[in-house]
Amino acid sequence: MAISSFSIPCALIPIPYSLFPIPYFLFPDPSSLSSHYNEIHMIRFSTAGESHGEALIALISGLPAGIPVDLGFINHELWRRQQGYGRGGRMKIETDKAHILSGVRHGKTIGSPIAIEIVNRDWKNWEEKLPVEAGDPAKHQAVASPRPGHADLAGALKYNFPDARYVLERASARESTSRVAAGALAKLFLRMLGIEIASHVIRVGHASLDRPATWEEIAALTAKDEVMLGCVDAVAEARMKEEVEEAARTGDTVNGIFEVVAHNVPAGLGTYANWDERLDGLLAWSVMSLQAVKAVEIGRGVTAAESFGSQVHDLIHYAEQDTGKPTRFTRPHNNAGGIEGGVSNGEDIVVRGYLKPISTLRRPLESVRFDTREATSASYERSDICVVPAAGVAAEAMVAITLTGVAQQKFGGDSVLELQRNFDSYIEQIHNY
Ligand SMILES: Cc1cc2nc3c(=O)[nH]c(=O)nc-3n(C[C@H](O)[C@H](O)[C@H](O)COP(=O)(O)O)c2cc1C
Repeated sequence: MAISSFSIPCALIPIPYSLFPIPYFLFPDPSSLSSHYNEIHMIRFSTAGESHGEALIALISGLPAGIPVDLGFINHELWRRQQGYGRGGRMKIETDKAHILSGVRHGKTIGSPIAIEIVNRDWKNWEEKLPVEAGDPAKHQAVASPRPGHADLAGALKYNFPDARYVLERASARESTSRVAAGALAKLFLRMLGIEIASHVIRVGHASLDRPATWEEIAALTAKDEVMLGCVDAVAEARMKEEVEEAARTGDTVNGIFEVVAHNVPAGLGTYANWDERLDGLLAWSVMSLQAVKAVEIGRGVTAAESFGSQVHDLIHYAEQDTGKPTRFTRPHNNAGGIEGGVSNGEDIVVRGYLKPISTLRRPLESVRFDTREATSASYERSDICVVPAAGVAAEAMVAITLTGVAQQKFGGDSVLELQRNFDSYIEQIHNY
């Protein structure tokens, strides 16, 4: 059974099946539309908060008791989400810090829901403009003309707002801060199973990384205390920087492609047994749900579509010696991105996110005023020019949360001890296979 924000509660679909526009046999039970992210006994998370509100919130439950929680690590993840060449002025105001309110005691999870608050330092400038109580309507700061590429117009129509202020506030990618906090906990969970997650940037505008990156290179990026564009190659990164500079010079924006790699994932997470349990589908959903991500690729999914099968599929070999991995089955390459038939196959999981360019331009696009319908320029509010490295960090969080869910589904456990025992026994099973 699934509950919470990702699911569609039956109560919201009171229409008799006979009137339901989708052939009912596709969804014989409306609860089958629900997500595996929020299943009971697995990690569940939701977020709250507005871009200029008092704070962002992440609520995470379903994690076993006994996970060591490193606050420094969570804050470092939040810091990483704020970095990158081409970020706007807002990131100079905010220094995101996690304030854990519940669910962690004496440095470890206790199995209870974990609430994390990340305060918006900018709130002091918005308290009167966005009061919780009625406040002074004259102080309201309207987003008077919708920005193409944002939820502004669709959101105002949907919620019947006279302008797009409230739409901007929640549709903003500031929300991804909460996801990164939740994802940091998921990473701490996965770390106990030896699974690590990192990301790097493989394209900004026309500039791309033209060589493969090793796991060691990608993982090393997470420890850097200065982030330019999150590329493992200095020459490619310099070309990427030029792309951002050109966008900045011309009042434009640019984005590109990030790649998330999950390392040391054992074979057997996810399943082909049901359409909504396939790991590739779950990952695509979770990464696509990030602001500005418009396509998700698993492994070499895009180029595979234009290649012959002999050039794509990862051959299967068997090593004479122990490989240091759970099994001795090996692959000379990993074009599948670590997933075949919706199941992890023991190779690194590789997920790419394609970002559309940022929609708020200093040289604004054409729009119309909400009040008079007159042609005008889209509203402009302090904005990023390029966010590919930051989006990669947010996608790491989504991948971590998704992998935590499928790992919990497979190994279960209310305590770390129970989880670890189940995990070790499965690893031994596939080792002896
Ligand atoms: C980390 C991150 C930061 C972002 N910062 C901005 C920004 O400063 N200005 C902006 O217009 N869009 C920004 N975006 C993109 C918008 O949030 C996104 O394009 C918009 O909400 C519309 O959603 P959609 O692109 O998914 O359709 C950012 C996205 C991410 C992932």
